[in-house]
Amino acid sequence: MVRNPPATANPRPVDASPRAAIILAAGLGTRMRSDLPKVLHPVAGRPMVEYVLAAVAGASPIVGVIAPDQPALAAAFADHVAVFQRERLGTGHAALQAAPALAGFAGVVLILAGDVPMIEAATLDRLVEALGASDRPAIAVAGFRPPDPGAYGRLIEERPGRLARIVEARDASAMERAVGLCNAGVYAVEGASLFGWLAGLGANNAQGEYYLTDIVAAARAEGRAVAVVETAADEVLGVNSRADLAAVEAVAQARARGRAMAGGVTLMDPASVHFSFDTVIGRDVVIEPHVFFGPGVTIGDDVRINAFSHLAGARVETGAVIGPFARLRPGTVIGPGAHVGNFVELKAASLGAGAKANHLSYLGDAEIGPRSNIGAGVITCNYDGFVKSKTHIGADAFIGSNAALVAPVSVGDRAIIGAGATITRDVPADALAVARADQEIRPEAASRYRAKRRR
Ligand code: UD1
Ligand code: CA
Repeated sequence: MVRNPPATANPRPVDASPRAAIILAAGLGTRMRSDLPKVLHPVAGRPMVEYVLAAVAGASPIVGVIAPDQPALAAAFADHVAVFQRERLGTGHAALQAAPALAGFAGVVLILAGDVPMIEAATLDRLVEALGASDRPAIAVAGFRPPDPGAYGRLIEERPGRLARIVEARDASAMERAVGLCNAGVYAVEGASLFGWLAGLGANNAQGEYYLTDIVAAARAEGRAVAVVETAADEVLGVNSRADLAAVEAVAQARARGRAMAGGVTLMDPASVHFSFDTVIGRDVVIEPHVFFGPGVTIGDDVRINAFSHLAGARVETGAVIGPFARLRPGTVIGPGAHVGNFVELKAASLGAGAKANHLSYLGDAEIGPRSNIGAGVITCNYDGFVKSKTHIGADAFIGSNAALVAPVSVGDRAIIGAGATITRDVPADALAVARADQEIRPEAASRYRAKRRR
């Protein structure tokens, strides 16, 4: 047994040591049955691996272990170090591939699985702090107690808080499988020792793989302590299947709803409102049931979003009213106090302060000035089959119902467009534009027509 070196060998407190991170992401994700690498599946609109990258922000280097046949994953690690695991021989083999990238690194190495996205930076801090205990653990493992331990590795304790080893469910005895404390797949490891242990792993187990989890037994064999840090099950759910993905999505949504309500948003039916990771919402916003926020939405104060509205890449300013049944697509800006009503779709369009588009409209590639009124059924014809063109509408304009504005076209300030017009030429400020066939009246013709048909 190797004696612990004297404390003076490591004068820096461990939680102030430099941190590096390894993110394991080369697995096949077979159970997802997907062409998309597992860790790129989105949770609340953001690829799983990006949550993990955010949790380790500040660690340096951050090393992603990916497979050579995953170019999309290489892109996710473009700002970091990506190393290839050429054969999928298990999590221990995967972590070992980071050795060259971390040569000479003597701080703490965080090891995370790319498929455990809800992990929080505070938990990583707790893992690193655990390495500073008086018995100088060489490894701290995040543990949790899931409602159904299923296929998770079991943490076998020597005494409370100190591990003897980790056993995978498939290799566990019935008694070991009855242990409720499970391995979250998130670790803090003394960098100076990690790669020695990884290099010494065997693959004599049910799956014939090199298990990262076996570094625990390796550390114990050298007399080093291994700590376990318990965390909430919600935070460390792993994603191996679409059902797991849905469970993690539910966690992400619950967090987002909680944040929104804590920030002063009324959710009339929280469970029916879906947020993205980056949704920003002001105070005193009321959100009716069944509203969807795709990525890139910012909502100002005092906005009301009525039922069944779908927003993505849009900014809604103070006091605006959206929906019910509104669709705001990317590039949309709704000005202060503006109204967007039912079955109105906007794309790359801005609606000025106090402007209204209340019924059945498509407004694409359009700029609409303050206080203008867009009548029911108005369409901006932005696409001619070849190119997209813009529509400009000034301030205080009135666009009559069912007008078609054939872009590129502009309507000046205070102009009025008669109902049913097809506008193909610019309309100057203060002008009235009418573009429709004259109405014809044939007295008694309806009666004559009916009489003829009844005969
Ligand atoms: C792993 C742990 C298990 C733990 C669980 C937590 C091992 C042996 N088991 O099991 O104790 O309870 O996570 O979620 O570590 N990967 C590679 N290369 C490989 C194999 C896997 O990069 O050859 C990556 C995967 O992309 C994934 C991560 O490692 O991101 C975990 O692999 P996975 O196969 O999902 O392990 P689990 O069976 O979930
Ligand atoms: Ca997993």
